[in-house]
Amino acid sequence: AGLRAVKAAGGLTFAQDPETAQYDGMPQSAIETGCVDFVLSIPEIACALSRITALPVQEDSEEKGAESTADHHEDTQRILHLLKGSTGIDFTHYKPATIGRRVQRRMAVHGLDGVAAYADRLRTRPAEAEALTNDLLIGVTEFFRDPVAFEALAASVYPAFQPGSSGDRSVRVWVAGCSSGEEAYSLAMSLLEFYQDAPVPQVQIFATDLSAKAIAKARSGVYSREELRRGLSEERIDRFFTPVENGYRISKRVREMCVFARQNLIKDPPFSRLDLVSCRNLLIYLKQAVQARLLSLFHFALKPGGFLLLGKSESITSAHGLFAPLDKTNRIYMKTKTHSTYQSAETRVDGPQREQLGRPNEPAYDETRFDLQMEADRILLARYAPGGVVVNDKLEVVLYRGYTGKYLEASPGKPDLDLRTMIRPGILREMEQAFEQARKEQLPARIESLQVRRDSESAQINLEVIPLGPPGQTATYFLVVFEDVTARGGQARDVSPAPAAEGNDDGRDLEIARLRRELCHTQAYLRSNMQKHAARDEELTALNEEILSSNEELQSMNEELEAAKEELQASQEELVTLNEELRSRNAELARLNDEIRKALQRAEESGAYAGAVVETIRQPLLVLDRELRVQGANAAYHRSFGTTPEQTAGKRIGELDGWGDVPALQTMLEQALSGGQPQENELEDKWRGERSLLFHVRPIQISGKPGPLILLAIDDVTAQKRALEASGLRRLSAHLQQQLEAERTRIAREVHDELGQALTALQFELGALKGAPEPWGAKVPKLIAAVQGAIQTARDIATDLRPPLLDEFGLQAAIEWQLEAFGKRTGIETALTYDLEILPPNPDLLTALVRVLQEAITNIARHAQASLVTVSLHDGEDYLVMEIADNGVGIDMVRLSDPRSLGILGMRERCAAHGGQLGFANRGDGTTLTAKLPIPRGNPSSSLTEPGTTRASGAE
Ligand SMILES: C[S@@+](CC[C@H](N)C(=O)[O-])C[C@H]1O[C@@H](n2cnc3c(N)ncnc32)[C@H](O)[C@@H]1O
Repeated sequence: AGLRAVKAAGGLTFAQDPETAQYDGMPQSAIETGCVDFVLSIPEIACALSRITALPVQEDSEEKGAESTADHHEDTQRILHLLKGSTGIDFTHYKPATIGRRVQRRMAVHGLDGVAAYADRLRTRPAEAEALTNDLLIGVTEFFRDPVAFEALAASVYPAFQPGSSGDRSVRVWVAGCSSGEEAYSLAMSLLEFYQDAPVPQVQIFATDLSAKAIAKARSGVYSREELRRGLSEERIDRFFTPVENGYRISKRVREMCVFARQNLIKDPPFSRLDLVSCRNLLIYLKQAVQARLLSLFHFALKPGGFLLLGKSESITSAHGLFAPLDKTNRIYMKTKTHSTYQSAETRVDGPQREQLGRPNEPAYDETRFDLQMEADRILLARYAPGGVVVNDKLEVVLYRGYTGKYLEASPGKPDLDLRTMIRPGILREMEQAFEQARKEQLPARIESLQVRRDSESAQINLEVIPLGPPGQTATYFLVVFEDVTARGGQARDVSPAPAAEGNDDGRDLEIARLRRELCHTQAYLRSNMQKHAARDEELTALNEEILSSNEELQSMNEELEAAKEELQASQEELVTLNEELRSRNAELARLNDEIRKALQRAEESGAYAGAVVETIRQPLLVLDRELRVQGANAAYHRSFGTTPEQTAGKRIGELDGWGDVPALQTMLEQALSGGQPQENELEDKWRGERSLLFHVRPIQISGKPGPLILLAIDDVTAQKRALEASGLRRLSAHLQQQLEAERTRIAREVHDELGQALTALQFELGALKGAPEPWGAKVPKLIAAVQGAIQTARDIATDLRPPLLDEFGLQAAIEWQLEAFGKRTGIETALTYDLEILPPNPDLLTALVRVLQEAITNIARHAQASLVTVSLHDGEDYLVMEIADNGVGIDMVRLSDPRSLGILGMRERCAAHGGQLGFANRGDGTTLTAKLPIPRGNPSSSLTEPGTTRASGAE
């Protein structure tokens, strides 16, 4: 049904080539409907679609109306002419819009974008004529189409067929334009249902159609399940059909009631003595004049009191009283007694004779309204048939009447119907004047005694221009009458009724005869006018009825609209809720937007603030990228190192003026980059060998930048150092450290040697008292235990004051002892990598190392929350390097520069006292402290394998 509908509406239809389909059932049955234009594979369908959609859309030729170009019209005429030539069917009676649409459809099928191109194709490919004919004969149909109409027939028409009601024993029905037979069979079925058990009169259904293909199918009486299902109930299918191999066949009984024949309704003779003519959905495709003729034909073919059934959108408007409506809604009409005006095809004045002679795009003259030719002839006859022409308001000839060769002559070149170019010399101006006057005044204009030249001869004529048209309407056609006065003896004849000369019988008789004729014509004219008026009245009545029924339709549409309105209202309510939701979401979005804007503003402000801070602080700052190139330097840097932004931007740190090679800083920066953790270190004599700088390195991740940047803050501590040196404080501090160590060593010795020995002696004495009489005997063991505790305490104090092993067994043993004691005390695991080949003989330096270790591990135990401490001692270039690494939470870099962090200060001072450095690095998984102490030059290093050679100075 879909395919048929699409095709009927002028659309194009595609089916997948079953050969390419996974399941070929659907495309196969679509192809079998005969409604498929293209059978293609899927990629080919896509190509065809894009080709078709790329074609320019042609305007509907009807819409184009007068604007349609002469070329277009000519091409369409050529198409119709070619069609008539190859199929014998004259489609000029069909509505131009229908023709236009169908031609366009075929053009699209072939991918052609011009009517002319299509006309050429039609000429060269005979098969195309058949295809276009099939398209033009739109065969859309179905069983019981518009079922209510069949109910109405059963209610008001079939009862009139009762035998005897028309004095005839058989019922004769004509289905004109029956397509593939569904309508004829539906009528047969409904008649059988109507008669039920009653005796069925002999029913003959003549079903005709112009399409041979459709008639062949109708005759076969076989339909697919789909076609049946469209209009038939299961009950009807069971009753009237039997399944066959390729579908369902109509029952013998129904088939025998129908006779199918190919017939062209427009030109072939009709059936006669019919009870019912059903011509549905055919007239709509035909021009109004042809519709009128066919209605008159049906009137002729029907018995008196016979019925006419039309399609849902067809009416008897152009039937001029031949039918009376019986059931307007269902388009059932009854033949009236009016005399039929039907003329058989042979007697009809048709074709070129009647075709207008005007330009091709000029609207056809509507003969139903006013018979131009008749009127012209009437006037000319009244004037003894002089020559004349009918012209339109552009002075173009539309009809020639009588002999006009004396006054007109075709000019050489293309045919031209303009009277001005045809008229013989001498009368053009006068003719134009008369025409203008007649057109303006809408009254005849006459000019007499004009001399018209023809070759060497000249003739005298009277010329009259007479407006033509129904009374009361502005004439748009004019009759130009040429009266040859010369031919009547050189006497100009006055055509106005002249009073007959008295006693002149001949003249009187002539005048009477002329007047009679004129009277006759006037009567005929009046009669025809009255008839036309009557017909128009009927037409108006019918129109009125149609309007009334349209009104009913409108009312039901109104009801539908009301229902739709209610639905709309419900939808509207939903929309309101939705709108509310959207509004609240919008508000939320606006709020978020606002927050984002504020955050951005804050970020901008923070950026500006940070920029201002960076620029204002007095500490030099550098920002480096991943490749350690300078991205920015603050004003303090430029001030402090005497550079300009141009000199620093994009330079590597080593390329900066005065820096030179800085491997320690480089390492520190790389560690910060890879570990992502802040570092702090102090490098001396690294800027032009003059300045001591303390570096703070902090990696920073900036959103939108690929890798971290490094913020390198520099403290120039040269001045402090120098001041410290100059003030002798450092030396004093070093001296104090030495004194302190010496004092500690002395106290430790005294505690260990003097007190320890006295306590040991006491322990022996007490041991001798074991077994003494009571009360002493019981107390002795307690006293011995107390003395042993005192001995241990004295040892611990001595050990704390001075790691004993350093003096006796050397640095490695002292460190090992420290770590073991630390491990026992704190539970933190320790490890030592001792990789020193040479050892500076300076016992103070060794003491400093041990003290730094002591302080560092004490700090780790207090703050780092570590579980492992690794100590490594190795030789650096001119340095002894000790690294103490923990796996704790990392050191707070602020603490490093806090003057209240006395432990850190102490470690720094110990290193500084020996010309060394102390640095801290946060690795991300703990902290590493690095102490670098220079091995004094010129001093022969001592072998580490000789313990005891390193002695604290205080031990001397
Ligand atoms: C749209 S169908 C209508 C079929 C059927 N009457 C119905 O209403 O279901 C129109 C039919 O009129 C036929 N037709 C068109 N012009 C015709 C003509 N001049 N003579 C006979 N049949 C014609 C077509 O072939 C087509 O089958």
